[in-house]
Amino acid sequence: MSEVKTKSSSNNQQDWKNQLSLPAKDTRVQTEDVTATKGNEFEDYYLKRELLMGIFEAGFEKPSPIQEESIPIALTGRDILARAKNGTGKTAAFIIPALEKINTGSPDVQCLILVPTRELALQTSQVCKTIGKHMNINVMVTTGGTNLKDDIMRLSENVHIIVGTPGRVLDLANKNVINFSKAETFIMDEADKLLSPEFTPVIEQLLGFFPKKRQVLLYSATFPLVVKSFKDKHMVKPYEINLMDELTLKGVTQYYAYVEEKQKVHCLNTLFSKLQINQSIIFCNSTNRVELLARKITELGYSCFYSHARMLQHHRNRVFHDFRNGSCRNLVCSDLLTRGIDIQAVNVVINFDFPRNAETYLHRIGRSGRFGHLGIAINLITNEDRFNLYKIEQELGTEILPIPPVIDKRLNINDHNSYNKNQPPPGLNRPRNQNNNTNEGPPGYHGNQRRNNQRQGGYNQNGENYSQQTGK
Ligand SMILES: Nc1ncnc2c1ncn2[C@@H]1O[C@H](COP(=O)(O)OP(=O)(O)OP(=O)(O)O)[C@@H](O)[C@H]1O
Ligand SMILES: [Mg+2]
Repeated sequence: MSEVKTKSSSNNQQDWKNQLSLPAKDTRVQTEDVTATKGNEFEDYYLKRELLMGIFEAGFEKPSPIQEESIPIALTGRDILARAKNGTGKTAAFIIPALEKINTGSPDVQCLILVPTRELALQTSQVCKTIGKHMNINVMVTTGGTNLKDDIMRLSENVHIIVGTPGRVLDLANKNVINFSKAETFIMDEADKLLSPEFTPVIEQLLGFFPKKRQVLLYSATFPLVVKSFKDKHMVKPYEINLMDELTLKGVTQYYAYVEEKQKVHCLNTLFSKLQINQSIIFCNSTNRVELLARKITELGYSCFYSHARMLQHHRNRVFHDFRNGSCRNLVCSDLLTRGIDIQAVNVVINFDFPRNAETYLHRIGRSGRFGHLGIAINLITNEDRFNLYKIEQELGTEILPIPPVIDKRLNINDHNSYNKNQPPPGLNRPRNQNNNTNEGPPGYHGNQRRNNQRQGGYNQNGENYSQQTGK
């Protein structure tokens, strides 16, 4: 009898798994940054079945190292301060326990996830929706640059999780539009950025709206000293996780090219012709330089988008959305998109302007090599940057090599089999037709991308995963 029971319950177990609509398997090589796990399974954490369904349908098979460390502790309700490398799955490390704890039967706001930028808020809320897809959970994203009234309307319905940037969330809390008195989970992603002087007073005021008994979870790849005073003041015996035995990603090879300022564009042109670019992000140190460079790149005949904080939000959103979907190969931007942005198809990061500090450098180059995949970071170094290059190398304990005449393709191109058969091989960073070099579209769009882009559709290597993330 008991045998029959066991059999039928195990059939039942298999049934729900067989009915999942799983994305195509990602067969690319992965580094130890994500493979060096203890061997846990998501099922080991006794999560709700609906949550497990969302996890598996997002393409996650097993927890990454930071997820193994974070999920079981977060489920106990303890405060956490967690540090793990870029692209190793911190988002799901806090979203999975946050979703598990939500009581969907209650109309109350139960969790706040704060992030420093609007684009990251959009991305993070999408991850919540993807993983929580079968849970009947209402997630709301709220950021500056959008209509406050729309947010107020939206809050008249039940919302369980708020994902937002600090200023707008505080605004809504001050107006009593969001009631955090029943919210037990306070999460800060990119916590060190949120605890920089510009944000700290807002964060402290926001915490004041939360009940005394709340769980505070902090995540980042970088935790400078500023975090300590917050920890001492607002966290109760936090469980500290630090998976950074080294700081840089094993899969990202770093090079520099020594150039004069006026040679930079020429150098970039050479890089475009030599590198196997699937998608690239090119960082500049000011909004002016972003726009100037985007124009130069277009003049050279390559398609590119650009984004920076002085653009209208709906233009920023459109660029972000379309770049994620692979409508353009290159994105020029400021440090607005340095932290947290997860675009799996980006395999090349170029620091057209070298960043000023080690944290910014680390986060920028971490936009490639997501989830243990391979990538290349190239730094254009002028005479003035020399000492900074040395300083950042020392601080990060890493080696930035002079760029070799020929770059080994195996360094940034993953298993070609993983490319969608309908897509051309990577590395075809073909110049656009010079005659079509018009400047149509809103700011952020250089040239007529739809017509002139190197190819239509996405460049994404594991399309299924990707399209779920963007909610398409
Ligand atoms: N367990 C998993 N299995 C497979 N893929 C995963 C898993 N966890 C996360 N990923 C994927 O890994 C990528 C990187 O995850 P995520 O953005 O959370 O990294 P992160 O640690 O927050 O990086 P950053 O420090 O840059 O913000 C995402 O595309 C995500 O979907
Ligand atoms: Mg992140």
